[in-house]
Amino acid sequence: MLSFRLIQSRVLLQLLLAATAALAYTRLSDASLARVPSGDDDFDATSGKLLAPILIPRVPGTPGSEKARRHFADFFAAQLPRWIVEWHNSTSVTPATGDEEVPFVNLVVRRDPPWAVAEGDVARLTLAAHYDSLYRPEGFIGAVDSAAPCALLMHVARSVDRALTSKWDAMLANGEVGGGLEEEKGLQIIFIDGEEAWVEWTDSDSLYGSRALAEKWESTSQEGIHSTPLQSISLFMLLDLLGAAEPRIPSYFGKTHWAYQHLAAAEDRLRGLSILETRPEPHPFLVDNQKRSYEFTRGFVQDDHVPFLERGVDVLHLIPTPFPAVWHTMDDDGAHLDIPTLRDWAKIITVFVAEWMDLEGFLPPLQQDGEKTDTRHSKKDEL
Ligand SMILES: *[C@@H]1O[C@H](CO)[C@@H](O)[C@H](O)[C@H]1NC(C)=O
Ligand SMILES: [Zn+2]
Repeated sequence: MLSFRLIQSRVLLQLLLAATAALAYTRLSDASLARVPSGDDDFDATSGKLLAPILIPRVPGTPGSEKARRHFADFFAAQLPRWIVEWHNSTSVTPATGDEEVPFVNLVVRRDPPWAVAEGDVARLTLAAHYDSLYRPEGFIGAVDSAAPCALLMHVARSVDRALTSKWDAMLANGEVGGGLEEEKGLQIIFIDGEEAWVEWTDSDSLYGSRALAEKWESTSQEGIHSTPLQSISLFMLLDLLGAAEPRIPSYFGKTHWAYQHLAAAEDRLRGLSILETRPEPHPFLVDNQKRSYEFTRGFVQDDHVPFLERGVDVLHLIPTPFPAVWHTMDDDGAHLDIPTLRDWAKIITVFVAEWMDLEGFLPPLQQDGEKTDTRHSKKDEL
């Protein structure tokens, strides 16, 4: 009976926390929306600092895979040193490689509030994309699948980093720390390895990295409100196949439709203020803002969220239906990306994250945006 009551109060506490988190979601003002960076030419397919270096084959266990990983790790070490970087390594045989154990390496980066809390007291908005590329056809790049989503996640981290520091510094200075439950919100990004099937998609030939990670996080215990790293995920937001023009992104899960609606509202407001570059017809990127609860079916797309979804994690899946025409062909390369669409995604997703993390009032003006702005200015001067 005692343990039952304990369980009950824990569930209640989690419900309470969920409610608090939802309430604490604060819309950005119009002025703040105008401060959200687009990434400028960082998404350029041939010279973009974030994207171009990873438009190479990235088959697990090959030098290209190592190069992509180094690109992510170096970026966080050099530009976002406050983020904790963690590796999650596993190995598996695949139906294409015989008895050889192929290494799969996930990269997890996160920022938590700097004050001391138990590991499990932080609920983390978790953004994810896979960085591996398809084994065959040989030389396959996978620009929308999923180099571009990885670059988007790097951009999002950079775009909210300074505001997170300002907000948390202000909270520390004002003695607001530890007063309420809602403050313990962290941000986490996972670059996932081994999403692709090597021969044909089955439960065992796919999702190598995400299956290993979800299993590990489910069985790791930690101090605090959330007793495992898996339970510390407040929302698992998975980006895949983004970067082609005129995407159509449905809302797949009734349970997280409220989060989808926040994202759709961000797109709608940015379009209303003419802050986005694209003018998709006849529908916006996020098509299902008006979807009713009875319209949700059990259908969804198999992807890296599945091992998490199966373990009860809330999932928001940003993947177009239908898939881009270049999907799993040699045409999925830099030349077939639509860069204005990528820059618009950069803004929409950054707004969602900034609102989730309550950053209204803390986003720096665009001009102060470091080296990026400097190069833009020098270019403008030349013109
Ligand atoms: C996991 O792999 C990364 C990248 O290859 C490597 O740097 C790291 O040392 C490995 N970690 C462990 C614990 O093996
Ligand atoms: Zn794929």
